[in-house]
Formats: sequence, structure tokens, C-alpha cells
Amino acid sequence: MTTLVVHPATGPLVGSVPVPSDKSIGHRALLLGALCDGDTHITGFSHGEDNVSTANALRAMGVAIEEPGPGELVVHGVGLAGLKGPAGDLDCGNSGTTMRLLCGVLAAARFRATLVGDETLSRRPMMRVAGPLRLRGAVIDGRRHATRADEIVAPLVVGPLPEGRDLGPLEYVSPVSSAQVKSAVLLSGLLAHGATRFREPTVSRDHTERMLEALGCPIRTVGPLVELDPTGWDHRMPGFTIAIPGDLSAAAFLVVAAQLVEGSRVTARGVGVNPTRTGLLEIARDMGAGLTVEPQGERSGEPVAELHAWSAPMRAVIIGGETVPRAIDEIPIACALAARAHGTTRIRDAGELRHKESDRIATMATVLRAFGVKCEEKPDGLDVEGREGALQAADVDSRGDHRIAMTAAVLALVGRGPSRVRDAGCIATSYPKFVATLRGLGARVDVEA
Ligand code: S3P
Repeated sequence: MTTLVVHPATGPLVGSVPVPSDKSIGHRALLLGALCDGDTHITGFSHGEDNVSTANALRAMGVAIEEPGPGELVVHGVGLAGLKGPAGDLDCGNSGTTMRLLCGVLAAARFRATLVGDETLSRRPMMRVAGPLRLRGAVIDGRRHATRADEIVAPLVVGPLPEGRDLGPLEYVSPVSSAQVKSAVLLSGLLAHGATRFREPTVSRDHTERMLEALGCPIRTVGPLVELDPTGWDHRMPGFTIAIPGDLSAAAFLVVAAQLVEGSRVTARGVGVNPTRTGLLEIARDMGAGLTVEPQGERSGEPVAELHAWSAPMRAVIIGGETVPRAIDEIPIACALAARAHGTTRIRDAGELRHKESDRIATMATVLRAFGVKCEEKPDGLDVEGREGALQAADVDSRGDHRIAMTAAVLALVGRGPSRVRDAGCIATSYPKFVATLRGLGARVDVEA
């Protein structure tokens, strides 16, 4: 298992760097490209393991995906009903998005598909997608959860939808703001009879809606309500061209590293700044962080910007409400900001973090304490007491969670001595060049196999 040995920074982090392509947009470009009638050309693709899981699952269902050059993919679409039954299990690896969005894509399939995942993914709740999809007639089941009778986990078996039966209309009010649930429901709606209406408490990332709209699908969004009514639609989507923006969720680690290491000046280029994703930037600004966002227009229907970050004194804030779904993957790294801010930062309304690649509330509390940062775990968040001076050098385990591993590596930059981040191979699920990028900015990181 890979261990990172991260040394305390001896000087500022300095540089201007690109970041890997947006993982969420990558999944959607691949899935929708596969469902188009025609070829889809993707550029700027970073080959994070999660996105590769989606590509491989599609290949296993008869979709040809070529790689004509670095970061380029051509997806030969098979049409909305053109996927073929796979010969074996569809391996979603560590990727919850792959598994949940595939449930929506496969809800109307006339074949059976078994979706499997690694140990972490096989613990994550799947009833949140199976529930609404069953309501419209989908055949979907999984393994019973160890302790919760009303929950299922992977392996999931989806389909076949019996001949002569179609998916029906669906009006669904989701108890959680979740782009994965929303996207699975919308994707199932493409082949359903009747309309799909999905409402969530506050708006989660809207990449699926943007892409469907660009492809001419009959979709309409009003705040946290999305409607898709395919009545009268020809059920054809043309192939498209997409340049995937940089992933804000990856850039966040660099932005925060620049705050922590005194004197740093870091620029992250070509970063997607869709407003449904920018919660962390708002939190950082509220804390007084050194940060400017320089807009650079749009890339394939998504706003992009250059982020300029530098270290500045920070104060504690309260994080909660509608900001949380817009910063859901950045709450661990926001804890690193909180660890250096003056006062106690309170994070609430973030119970969803318990269902991510690890229980991120519990895991972050363990990591923070290992670095000597005082914190208190709450059912839906945590309180983090900021501290000055060097942190304790730590020896922490990522629990197989890429965002925890990267957060720990960033905290280690202000440690009193070298820190160890164990089980760090998972970083490759979203940011294969993370260590190389940190080194390029001036950090000293050793990798032990
Ligand atoms: C994602 C949605 C989020 C996020 C995940 C990616 C997506 O999950 O945590 O990393 O691409 O739709 P939820 O929508 O379940 O919160």
C-alpha cells in the first residue's frame, strides 16, 4: 500500500498549474456520449480511475471508446436503447457516481447487469437511487445492508425490464440534495413514458441538466426542481464535442495549501467554476483567505476561471445550509482551513458526508486530532478549533478515501516534522498527478510503496 511521507514546507509554494479534468463532467460526457446517435469528441480528459471505471463499464456494454491522443477520447454512441448486455459484472471500482448513474442509464434495459465495486463502494447506500427508480417500474436490487433492513448495497442487479413493460412517469421529492440521485432519475427519464419531476432540498451540481439541455433534451429547471418530459421528443441526441474544464474539487487542495504555507502564491488554471460547485471558494473568502477568481469565459457550457491563491490570516466561520451541497466534496479540505483560522469553525447540515468514500466526519475528526487540532464530532458536521504555529507531525490512514488522503497531505505541509499518509494510492481515483503537482510547487513528498 502506498504511503506518502510529507515534509513540512521549508519555503512558500509557488507556481501556476493546470488541474485534472472535472470528474463529474467526465462521467457525464462518457455516459451521454454513449447514448448519443453519433460520435462524441472529448478533450482534456485526465484518466482518473473513477472516470476510467465509467469508460470500461460502457465498453463492456458494446460502446467503442478510442483514445486518438493524450487526453482525447472519441465515444462512438450507440443510441438511447443501444447498449448490449455485458458478458460479466460491471466493475465500478471506487466510483459511486459510476454505480449510481449507471442505475439510471440501465433502468430501462432489456438485459440484466450486475454492478460491483471495491470494498469502500460496497458499503455505500444504494437505496437512494433504487428507491425512486423502482417507483417508476425499474427492476433493481442489491445485497441487504448489514444492519439497516431498508438499505441495499452493491453488488446491485439492474434489469431486465420485462418485455411489454416500460418505465412510467415519476414525481420524486428527494430527502437529500444529491446530484447522483438527481442524475440517475433524469437519465432513467430519457426512456420512460411520461414526465420526470425531481425536486431536492437545495440545488446540487447541475452538470447533467446543462448537458441534457445542450443535447436538445426536453428539460426545464426551476431552482431545485427539474422536469424532463420526453413526450413528442424523437429520442435522439446528436454526438457532441466537449472540452472538460479543470476540477474545482482538485484545485481546492492547491488553493488551501497556498493559504496554509506562508508566503505562497499559487495559480490553478482552467478550473470549472459552475456556481453549484463553488461553495468552498465562498467559504474561503468568508474566512479571509487570499483568493481571487479571474473568469475566463465558458468551456462547453461550463464557466471556467483562473484561481489565484495566497496565504492570508483567516477567521473561523459557520458552514451550513445551501452552501454544503455546493461544497460537499470540499468539506474535508475546508477543515484544513478551519484548523488554521482564528476561532472555532462550525460545520453543520453535512450529514451526507457520512456516506462518502469514508465516513468523512469521523475520518476527518481522527485526522485533525492526529495533527493536534482540537475538534468535536457532531451528527451532521464538526467543530474545528483553529490553532497557530506548526501542527503535530502525524501518522494517518486515509481509510481508502482520496479526499482524506489529499487533505492530510496538505495539513502535513505545516507539520512540525515529516508526516505519513497511509493508503494514499486512492488519490489516483481523482487526481493521479497530485504528488507531482505538489512537488512542482516546491513541496517535498516521498512515496513509499
Ligand atoms: C457527484 C455528486 C456528489 C459528489 C460526488 C460526485 C456527481 O455526490 O459527492 O463526488 O458527480 O454527481 P452526491 O450527489 O451523492 O452528494
